[in-house]
Amino acid sequence: MPTTVSGTILQTPEPGILQVLEDHVVTIDDEGVIASVVPRAGVVADRIHDTNEVLIPGLIDTHVHAPQWPQLGTALDLPLDQWLNDHTFPLEARFSDLAFAESVWASMVPSLLRNGTTAAVYFASIHEPATIALVEACIEFGQRAFIGRVVMDHPDGTPEWYRDPSPSESVDATLRSVEALRSMSDPLHLVQPMITPRFIPACSDAAMEGMGELAAATGVLVQTHCSEGDWEHGYVLERHGCTDSESLDRFGLVRPHTVLAHGTHLTGADRKLLISKGAGVAHCPLSNSYFSNAVFRARASLDSGLRVGLGSDIAGGPSASLFVQCQQAVTSSRMLEDGLVPGVSGIKHSRIDIPTAFWTATVGGADLLGIPAGLLEPGRVFDAVTLRIGEGSTVDVWDDFDDWDRTFEKLVRRSNPSNISNVWVQGKCVTNQDPT
Ligand code: GUN
Ligand code: FE
Repeated sequence: MPTTVSGTILQTPEPGILQVLEDHVVTIDDEGVIASVVPRAGVVADRIHDTNEVLIPGLIDTHVHAPQWPQLGTALDLPLDQWLNDHTFPLEARFSDLAFAESVWASMVPSLLRNGTTAAVYFASIHEPATIALVEACIEFGQRAFIGRVVMDHPDGTPEWYRDPSPSESVDATLRSVEALRSMSDPLHLVQPMITPRFIPACSDAAMEGMGELAAATGVLVQTHCSEGDWEHGYVLERHGCTDSESLDRFGLVRPHTVLAHGTHLTGADRKLLISKGAGVAHCPLSNSYFSNAVFRARASLDSGLRVGLGSDIAGGPSASLFVQCQQAVTSSRMLEDGLVPGVSGIKHSRIDIPTAFWTATVGGADLLGIPAGLLEPGRVFDAVTLRIGEGSTVDVWDDFDDWDRTFEKLVRRSNPSNISNVWVQGKCVTNQDPT
């Protein structure tokens, strides 16, 4: 039986372009795919949202470190390499304890859904059982997810208590986790595997070569960090004599829909290379403010045709909300354009606006991953969020001067779980408040 949901839809088919479909009806087929989106006049809908709610496409977080959830919001006073060694690797090592991992996943996945994140791209830990438990949690709670067991084997870049014992074990464990994931019961086809070398400093050349071969042999998508900050960028230049993008490409890791986190230090030539391969960047603006020593060139990247999605980089970015990341993407781009100190100007034409940031969080993420999501239109999956606006909501609306453009800006800047009433993934309501 097809279901129908009605309401006013706000979405961004192009960067910077807000589309308003007032009082429309979305018909969803039994597979959770949108069959039609039409004006409501005369159509009887199963669920009619009142004028104090709007429908938006679900948000796609293209970069999350699942095992860093317990340290979200803390420990960001150190540079990246020290933060990894002092805080992050010790926490991630604890995920050898499956019960601990399960308790974290059971907290994190519903929390991200409550924030409107209908799809997430996860780095798990190096542990296969914890990785598979994350797959189970996403299927159970109904979140679309891309999940990778993390590869890190380099004796210099990793502690001996948190690393793969050898490059061949990195390859074997990755393959086992891909096969285990693919053999799981996942009726809505929510979860896909990812090949996940952590970043060049943590991986031996042999492991990276193995990951490239595995990607070519299996067609599994790749995710890693790329050109994140001064230290890491300089390290790769010294070790491989080239940029991260060139190095990853030599290992066969820059492929269609490869997700490269950060990219703040990409050169123009890097961008061209990534575009030619169909890879793209998970832009993580809040995390970049702490670790990247630079602002990502969002405007220039989008204008050049590079794929760009938005990411939280939990816990490098201390917020679980992609609404917060949208706001930070705009803020960072304004600082890049306007300059940081008096008398020294920034880079002209760097700013992005709220509809552009929201595009990266929806259509941009879907395009980066190659999935039919990000917009409420026929043929795409019904991954969606309803937001309360107006009286009693965090997003107040003044009828005499708030048009839809202003209301949309407000709702992206000010929404949080308190005004998110329902979340759907693949046509299924996954929040408790008002189940269908
Ligand atoms: N580079 C390698 N690992 C990490 C990580 O966990 N977070 C961030 N921000 N960068 C990384
Ligand atoms: Fe990261």
